[in-house]
Formats: sequence, structure tokens, C-alpha cells
Amino acid sequence: MRVAHALAILAACLATQAKRPNILFILTDDQDWHMESVEHMQSLKSDIVNKGASFDRHFCTVALCCPSRATLCTGRAAHNHNVTKVSPPHGGYPKVVDRGINDDYLPIWMQEAGYNTYYSGKLWNFHNVNNYNSPYVKGYNSSDFLLDPYTYRYWDSKMTHNDEARVSYAGKYSTDAVADKAYALLDEALSHEEPWFLTVSPIAPHSNWVFDEKTNTSYLSMPQSAYRHEHLFNDYQIPRGKSFNSAIEGGASWWRQRLRALQAVDEMVHELVEKLADDGELDNTYSFYTTDNGYTSASTACNRVRNAATVCDTDIHVPLFVRGPGVAAGAQFDSVTTHTDIAPTLLRIANADKQLDGENFEAGIHFGLYPNNTYKGLRLAGDGFSVYYSVWCTGERELFDLRADPEQTLNLLSEAGAHAASRFAVSGRPISDVVPRLDALMMVLKDCKDRTCMRPWGGAAPRGRRRIAARGPGPPSTTRSTRVSRR
Ligand SMILES: *[C@@H]1O[C@H](CO)[C@@H](O)[C@H](O)[C@H]1NC(C)=O
Ligand SMILES: *[C@@H]1O[C@H](CO)[C@@H](O)[C@H](O)[C@H]1NC(C)=O
Ligand SMILES: *[C@@H]1O[C@H](CO)[C@@H](O)[C@H](O)[C@H]1NC(C)=O
Ligand SMILES: *[C@@H]1O[C@H](CO)[C@@H](O)[C@H](O)[C@H]1NC(C)=O
Repeated sequence: MRVAHALAILAACLATQAKRPNILFILTDDQDWHMESVEHMQSLKSDIVNKGASFDRHFCTVALCCPSRATLCTGRAAHNHNVTKVSPPHGGYPKVVDRGINDDYLPIWMQEAGYNTYYSGKLWNFHNVNNYNSPYVKGYNSSDFLLDPYTYRYWDSKMTHNDEARVSYAGKYSTDAVADKAYALLDEALSHEEPWFLTVSPIAPHSNWVFDEKTNTSYLSMPQSAYRHEHLFNDYQIPRGKSFNSAIEGGASWWRQRLRALQAVDEMVHELVEKLADDGELDNTYSFYTTDNGYTSASTACNRVRNAATVCDTDIHVPLFVRGPGVAAGAQFDSVTTHTDIAPTLLRIANADKQLDGENFEAGIHFGLYPNNTYKGLRLAGDGFSVYYSVWCTGERELFDLRADPEQTLNLLSEAGAHAASRFAVSGRPISDVVPRLDALMMVLKDCKDRTCMRPWGGAAPRGRRRIAARGPGPPSTTRSTRVSRR
């Protein structure tokens, strides 16, 4: 409803605008929605959140950097782009190249639509000092990429500018290096007539990658802040009701470091918005702020109970804010949106449509960071319900009622959940009716393509649209009307 309204406004804007709007896309790394990190970013709040729209039910469809970024810049679900890990052979830059993504993806489509394209920061995992030139990243008019194995070193990064030899920024704070590059790219973008698409991707608040030369080993440590932010958040407490387990050592200081690391991002947001305003382009620019995936600390309830981070809502429910022409200040969208929808949305802004998997709400995909961490998942939200359902490759199934149990501590399909399950209902239908429908939906979404990803119920019951409707307001038709209401 409201999204459709916004898109209608957008289309009207496009029709009347002499110059198509620019797009500034700020992408952080592993930023949480649940732990309220955004509340501690004052410029983000005043420059983007309060001046634009918040997408409160926005999800990434793969809670892992590289697959999530592949989805962001292809508009494809992971089972279609097939980048399923951060490292080769199943993920990372080499896999991205193998899959042809470097030759056919968002920045190239934006250039074809007449946009100049720019990028500063982290692009892919395993995009490194040895392979950055074989082949070079395609699709950007100018770029500054952080390179592995220095990508996640807050004080020892290396970058390549426009395919030139890599340069070390040892001793300079990584986010400041990425920000300086972004300002230069923005100046370049603003010097041309064409509209532009600039992505800025600092590593904060991802963990810091430490290399110990004595033992020749690497490990992840707390994120690092710029020196000027070291003194902040000393009194920070984990928000009440967040099920923080203070017994786990290091939890609170880790969250403090994440907030401190985000402060340089916050300054950068302000500087970018100021530059746009100074140049008179702020009102002709869509500024997006999001992250590749969320984050579960070892100290939150979900992780303690579940022992596997990535199905938790903390990992898939991510911040998304958009400021720009036609977007009402302070608007809140409660429709479900996902990272798969981002590329179609940006192309729409550029007036260049493409048939992608966008607007689907599939969540979950194979990957193998943890031995048995392989599952398919669905996240559904609508009037009167908010659930997460997953089927693991081990055969286990999980259903969480996020209205009654936002921390996902009680699996309604487990013995412990039996009592709660007996009282659980969606639109008056008992759990025994709901689960088969979720299974049917899962079967369609696990290998959907194009329109089926957006209209999964058509695939679940090809002849059955009328029948589903006739059967009344059960989960399928509720789900479908949630989808329809987004048009
Ligand atoms: C996806 O990639 C894997 C290797 O990572 C490969 O074995 C598989 O065949 C690919 N699937 C498709 C559908 O291309
Ligand atoms: C940006 O790159 C595209 C594709 O190569 C090209 O058509 C366009 O002219 C370039 N823009 C500028 C300002 O050089
Ligand atoms: C560390 O690894 C490098 C490359 O594999 C090797 O050349 C070097 O000798 C190793 N150093 C130690 C202290 O093991
Ligand atoms: C993962 O494996 C462990 C050990 O085999 C098992 O106890 C646990 O139940 C498994 N979890 C899932 C979600 O498959």
C-alpha cells in the first residue's frame, strides 16, 4: 500500500525530472537492527532516518557477507546466483567471476542506463592483493576497493584505485581511508552531467582481523575505533530486554567497540550528505543506508539457546533507511522487503527495469561456515502474525512465533514448545494447518525464479488461486495479499 504509493510518487518524480536522480548507497558490514546500534548514530538519524523512510521489516536473504552482497548486486536469490560462501570454491571473488557476475550485474546495468558508477570500500571477500587484476572488477567508472587479506584490518588496509597497483594505508583508520576515497569519487561524480550511482562500503562494525606473525595465524578480534572515538560509550549498557548474558566474557566490551567503530561511519554519512547539499544535489539523490547482514553476539539469548547464529532474526533482520525525492520524512514501511528487492528498486529509480527475483521474501540458503548449519528458512510477517520457519538438512524443523517470542528461544515444533504450539494460530488456523502450507511455500521458494519468487502461491497451487481465496483467510492468502499490497 504505502510502498506502492511511494513508487507511484517516485514514478511521477521521474517523469517530471529533467535529470534522473543520483543514488548514494551506504553499505556497512554486519550491522545489527535488534541491538539498536542506529540509535547511537546521531548523524545517520538526523541526516537520513528522520528525513526519510525506515523499512522496519527489511531482511537479508542470506546472513553471510559474500552471498548477501551477490544478492544485493544481482537481484537474484542465492540459489540462482549460486555464490554460497565467503571463500572459494563456493564463494568469494573467484566464484563471483566464475558465475559471470562480474560481467552482468547492477553497476553494469546502471551504466547501460546512463549512470556513472563509483565504489569505495569492501566489495567481495577473497578479492585480494593477488587476484584484483585477474580480472579487474568491471562496471565502475572509478573505484577504490579494499583488498584481502587487509580488508578487515582497521589500521592496516590496502586499496586499489582504478585498477592501479595497491596502496597501503597502514596507520590510517580504515573507515577514514574509505571515506576520503568516497568524497573524491563524489566530487568526480558531481563534475559530470550524467546521474551517478556511488556505493560506499566501510568494514565497520565487522570484527578486526589480526595476523600474528609469530605464529603465522589469523584470528578475529573486537572491532577497532578511530582514536578520537575511543573514549565513547564507557557507560553503555546492553538494552534491557535484549536477553544479554553478562556471564559471557567480553560481550559488553565487544558491543561498545562496535558502537565506537560505527562513529566514523556516522561522521562519513554527515559529510556525504553535506557535500550533496553544498552541491545542490541532495534533493535529487536517493541516499540508502543498510548493511550486508545482521549480527548475533555469542551473548544473546538466541545464540545461547540455539548454538548456531545464523537463523536468528538478529542476523537476517537488518536496518534499511532511504532518504530521497518523494520519500516522506519519518515514514515507516511495515511491508516485508528483502535485499533481493534492492537491485530492482535501484534500477527502477534509474528508470531501467529488469526481470529479477526481486520482491521475494525467501530467507535462508545453503552455506557451510558451521558443520551442520545448512537449512532453508522463511520469514513471514503480516497482519496478526510474525513467524520464522526453517527446515534443516538434518531433517529438524523450527517454527518461531516472533510476536510472542521475539528472541526465538522456543521452537514450537519441539517438545518444549508443545504447550505454546497448542495455543498458536495464524488467522484462526491451528499449527497443524499452518505448517503444511509453510512447507508448500518453502518448496516453491527454494528454487523459484523471476515472477514465482514474487508470487510463490501461484507456484504452490498453480490452478489454485481461486481455491486458496475460496478457502478463506489462511496463511497462504494472507501471505499473498501481503505481497499484493506491496504493488
Ligand atoms: C553451484 O556451484 C557449485 C559449486 O560451488 C556447483 O557444484 C553447482 O553445480 C552449482 N549449481 C548450479 C545450479 O549452477
Ligand atoms: C562511465 O562508463 C561508461 C561505460 O564504460 C561510459 O559509457 C561512460 O561514458 C563513462 N562515464 C564517464 C564520465 O566517463
Ligand atoms: C609463515 O608463513 C609464510 C608463508 O607460508 C612462510 O614463508 C613463513 O616462513 C612462515 N613463518 C613462520 C614463523 O612460520
Ligand atoms: C548440529 O550438530 C550437533 C552435533 O552433531 C547436534 O547436536 C545439533 O543438534 C545439530 N544442530 C542442528 C540444528 O542440526
